[in-house]
Amino acid sequence: MFKKPNENFVIEGSAGARNLTGELKVGGAKNAALKVLASSLLFTDPIKLTNVPRIDDIKIMIDLLNDLGQNADFNDKTVRLGGKKITKTSLNEDLSHKLRASIVLTGPLLGRTGGVSFPHPGGCVIGQRPIDIFLNGFQAMGAKIHYDQNKYHLSAPNGLKGARIFFPQQSVTGTETLLMAAVLASGTTVLDNAALEPEVVSLGQFLINAGAKIHGLGTPTITVSGLGGPLAKKDHDYQTIPDRIEAGSYLILGALAGKDILISHCEPRHLTAVTETLKQMGLKMNIDHSSIRVNNEQPEFRAINLKTHEYPGFPTDLQAPMAVLLTQAYGQSFIFETIFENRLSYLDTLNRQGADTMLLDAHRALINGPRPLKGESLDSPDLRAGLAYIIAALVASGRSIVHNIHYIDRGYEKVEKKLQAVGANIKRVSCQG
Ligand code: EPZ
Repeated sequence: MFKKPNENFVIEGSAGARNLTGELKVGGAKNAALKVLASSLLFTDPIKLTNVPRIDDIKIMIDLLNDLGQNADFNDKTVRLGGKKITKTSLNEDLSHKLRASIVLTGPLLGRTGGVSFPHPGGCVIGQRPIDIFLNGFQAMGAKIHYDQNKYHLSAPNGLKGARIFFPQQSVTGTETLLMAAVLASGTTVLDNAALEPEVVSLGQFLINAGAKIHGLGTPTITVSGLGGPLAKKDHDYQTIPDRIEAGSYLILGALAGKDILISHCEPRHLTAVTETLKQMGLKMNIDHSSIRVNNEQPEFRAINLKTHEYPGFPTDLQAPMAVLLTQAYGQSFIFETIFENRLSYLDTLNRQGADTMLLDAHRALINGPRPLKGESLDSPDLRAGLAYIIAALVASGRSIVHNIHYIDRGYEKVEKKLQAVGANIKRVSCQG
């Protein structure tokens, strides 16, 4: 089982100098691979995933699947798993507490076996993150639910039945989980106000290639004609799509600290909201079909109003890195975080570094810029804010120490190695005690 050493990042900042040069290669998308791994439970044959990032969330998902008997083999960037008898229907409690995405296992597990038990999932503390959408969806498909000893117990001994499900709020994992449940149900399921994220489309497309009957991916109404039994077709591989959030994070870093940065192996089509926002701020980029070059001649960025939104809007997962860029833009910027209610708390720490930000309420903040940032001791509160701290530390003057980097390791593969290769002064150091 996967265990984590206690480590920090020590970063020497460039004091605003834009001197990073070279290529930042984007890996496979965490939030796509996690769901396709979970989909292995829908199959009677093994499946193979390539371009899988070697990050902690993926390792936890693999541990969860192995605990269910899936026999996963993770070699380099390839995972082979599934095709085995599912040996239990109860999700491992410790692992589920570590990973919000553990919830996506409930859809295929309930659909395949007629039962699942699980605790409330854990993950980054960025808001309340309820699971009502999942429970209501399963109930509509005929599952009985009871809560006992800190666990949800769901059963549908005669199989799930197709249903019409309206999502009161677009939910990425909610859509993916009920989509997977619907593939094996009997009858037709209609998911209304479904999420449009590329990761949802990519999962759905993989399932279609394996024989599932799904229409409307990438639109708010997805229709699934249930197969009434498992997917069995052999030899279907899944190539993980590029991680748009990793690409966007490097793009923002390139804007702030890059002399000549090439972000390669990415999918710029999935980043339109980000590149359009950066253009509006004054950033010049060369956008190709699979790469973006930031060649930083422009000295001044303009302040903007930034509103996060479900895809294709500006991703909430890039809101914190973007705030760092806004501390260096001229004028007053406004951030409106519409998806989560606890995703601006990192701003206090940026203020300690010298930023001038003001929290208006749980969803809204003002940022006045530009303000020089200085080195600080920074405690990552979650994955994306942790990455924002790395960016802030890299452009600050002096030394910063970023703590709680286990959050960052959840979603960014070898981040320090990639950044060192373009000239960043960042080191991973072990800390005792
Ligand atoms: C996914 O989380 C991503 N995680 C998140 O990535 C991402 O921030 C988020 O989508 C939004 O894009 C994975 O894909 C594993 P939601 P998810 O359900 O699915 C509310 C990262 O850093 N809601 O789309 O958990 C919820 O509170 C992360 O990689 C309910 O009200 O998010 C939120 O306000 C973190 N009831 C909104 O919906 C529910 O039952 C959207 O959340 C479920 C969600």
